[in-house]
Amino acid sequence: MSQGRLLVAALILTSLCVPVVAQRSDPTLAATPPMGWNSWNHFAGKVDDADVRAAADYMVSSGMKAAGYVYVNIDDTWEGQRDAQGFIHSNSKFPDMKALADYVHSRGLKLGIYSSPGPKTCAGYPGSYGHVQQDAQTYAKWGIDYLKYDLCSFIPIMKKEAPHDPQKQLAIMQDAYRQMHDALAATGRPIVFSLCQYGWMDVWKWGASVGGNLWRTTGDINDTYARMADIGFNQLGLAQYAGPGHWNDPDMLEVGNGGMSFDEYKTHMSLWAILAAPLLAGNDLSKMSTQTIDILTNRDVIAVDQDPLGKEGSRAFAVGMTEIWTKPLSDGALAAGLFNRDTAPHPVTLELHAIGYPANAKLRDLWAHQDVSASHGRYTVTVPPHGVAMLKVSR
Ligand code: GLA
Repeated sequence: MSQGRLLVAALILTSLCVPVVAQRSDPTLAATPPMGWNSWNHFAGKVDDADVRAAADYMVSSGMKAAGYVYVNIDDTWEGQRDAQGFIHSNSKFPDMKALADYVHSRGLKLGIYSSPGPKTCAGYPGSYGHVQQDAQTYAKWGIDYLKYDLCSFIPIMKKEAPHDPQKQLAIMQDAYRQMHDALAATGRPIVFSLCQYGWMDVWKWGASVGGNLWRTTGDINDTYARMADIGFNQLGLAQYAGPGHWNDPDMLEVGNGGMSFDEYKTHMSLWAILAAPLLAGNDLSKMSTQTIDILTNRDVIAVDQDPLGKEGSRAFAVGMTEIWTKPLSDGALAAGLFNRDTAPHPVTLELHAIGYPANAKLRDLWAHQDVSASHGRYTVTVPPHGVAMLKVSR
């Protein structure tokens, strides 16, 4: 055999030997990125039953539900003690979890909860270690629709079981996630499964194979432009791993929590939409300014996030401190975010031919809610500091 043929044969053999990672996650769950609210960013350890009911009420009355938000997710600190049979109970902040689920469902919404594969959650409450099947059954019995499963105290267990062997530790972690996925599936109740292990060991490459509908790609966000931008703009390279039923999760939204300007929060929302990220509001829904509601319920921007094609966007161009990110949409259009990461305003130009569109393509500004026009196939806009212009480009 010639050297060339040998190489081709070797390539074919290699490609045959690469294990095909089957997707375990249910693609009918989270066909588009989950939308809702999560208690952690604003309420953290103080969250209680009344806060969650209020979040459900305001999700409806603010127009968020009509705009597509559906999950009301309780994060850490709801957990109480286990009974003699090992079943978990909620603590005194949550007197009756089934009644709370019934209430959330009566508002046409869904309820999410939180646990860890380790013996303790990140905030030190009981985790699911040794009680995986029981906890899945309890969640289903209560009427839970979404579980965030946070690695936390499972880390020392992995390390103890396989000291100095990262590959074995990975296998142990994957097994822990797979076990909870399978236990949830065995209940027969559709429960969105959210992996939270901060993006370790390239979780985007295997999250769907252990049943994840979404997986955190980073450590925790906070309510600053610096952290939000660091997380959001660093998602580059992960787009190929997302799709219907299995999404990259750059963490929950901080919109409305007070630490960023109006322009910075618009950047946050626009970038998350282009990334096809879960849109989980993390603010106090009972105290929202008109600006916060306008950002969270911008249907044009939400439509980019929720586009049924399910393609995550990527950076197309970067010039100095400005970046253009694009996301293909199911109707053949393209969403384009023109971002300015600098602290001074900058003009940003979108060249239509450079993104494969004719000079007479139709442009709509998704924050101004109006059509705009290109001149000789170029559209230039001055983008404010840390701000964005977001466009939909159609033929
Ligand atoms: C971790 C997670 C956060 C939150 C807290 C709760 O830090 O990454 O999103 O769930 O735990 O303790």
